[in-house]
Amino acid sequence: MSNSSSFNEFLLLAFSDTRELQLLHFSLFLGIYLASLLGNGLIITAIVCDHHLHTPMFFFLLNLSVLDLGTISTTVPKSMANSLWNTSAISYLGCAAQVFHFTFLLSTEYSVLTVMAYDRYVAICRPLHYGTLMNHRACVRMAAAAWASGFLNAFLHTTNTFSIPLCQGNTVDQFFCEIPQILKLLCAGSYFREAGALVVTICLVFGCFIFIVQSYVQIFTVVLRIPSEQGRHKAFSMCLPHLAVVSLFVGTVIFAYLKPPSISSPFLDLVLSVLYAVVPPAVNPLIYSMRNKELKNALKEFTPLVLLQQQ
Ligand SMILES: *[C@@H]1O[C@H](CO)[C@@H](O)[C@H](O)[C@H]1NC(C)=O
Repeated sequence: MSNSSSFNEFLLLAFSDTRELQLLHFSLFLGIYLASLLGNGLIITAIVCDHHLHTPMFFFLLNLSVLDLGTISTTVPKSMANSLWNTSAISYLGCAAQVFHFTFLLSTEYSVLTVMAYDRYVAICRPLHYGTLMNHRACVRMAAAAWASGFLNAFLHTTNTFSIPLCQGNTVDQFFCEIPQILKLLCAGSYFREAGALVVTICLVFGCFIFIVQSYVQIFTVVLRIPSEQGRHKAFSMCLPHLAVVSLFVGTVIFAYLKPPSISSPFLDLVLSVLYAVVPPAVNPLIYSMRNKELKNALKEFTPLVLLQQQ
């Protein structure tokens, strides 16, 4: 560890050295950022203002929109500013703050998506108990647990990672600071200090994943048994937006973090990181609003499903 050094800044991946391409990157990210602000802002306003949308599903969706706004605000504005001012530097504290916020919001988002899977499971497989299982207190508790687990996870990893000396320079191969990239810079012998925390997180992520898959297996078993085509369609439209968001999120994150190092290239890493850090916050509002009307109708005509369950 003799050649370990401390830095007061990190260098982020710059998209280009050419002025035109830097401005193109700036405009592209600005467009995506504004789209995300607009989409999530509209969803938040709609849910807060419309009393018809004061149901657990929409409150969790509200959580998701807030998280999406936070996630994209952590990474994109800094990258845009760097392109505009032709720099790649981020201060040590700025980098730690990015790691903390990004990990916090991403793990909370994953927990909220898990809770939403449970919500869909209860709505479709246990409709008679929906009122009791998803009452206000239970929802607030689940939401609080999701935010607390995200906070603890981020706190654990950020303090752990930033207390280990760096040996491999201060160049981060990514347009924002995130844990896997910082881990690459750690001194070889000290990696095990973060390994324990990683194992805990991987177990939790895997547990939630099994839970989500299990919920959807049960949902599909029930839905496919609905005799009427219309009823099936309604039930599917209640859970397809959520399934789409989960697949986008889990698919890109798992691929980015668990892909074999042999297929790792800077370009692929960059595309993947844009796919899981920038695209979902901008696309999620679209996925949900596309089905919004149908969702409302599905909720209104929920009674046939309830009757079916009683038979
Ligand atoms: C998150 O969801 C819970 C439970 O429905 C709700 O009480 C809370 O207000 C939501 N919080 C945010 C920030 O959206």
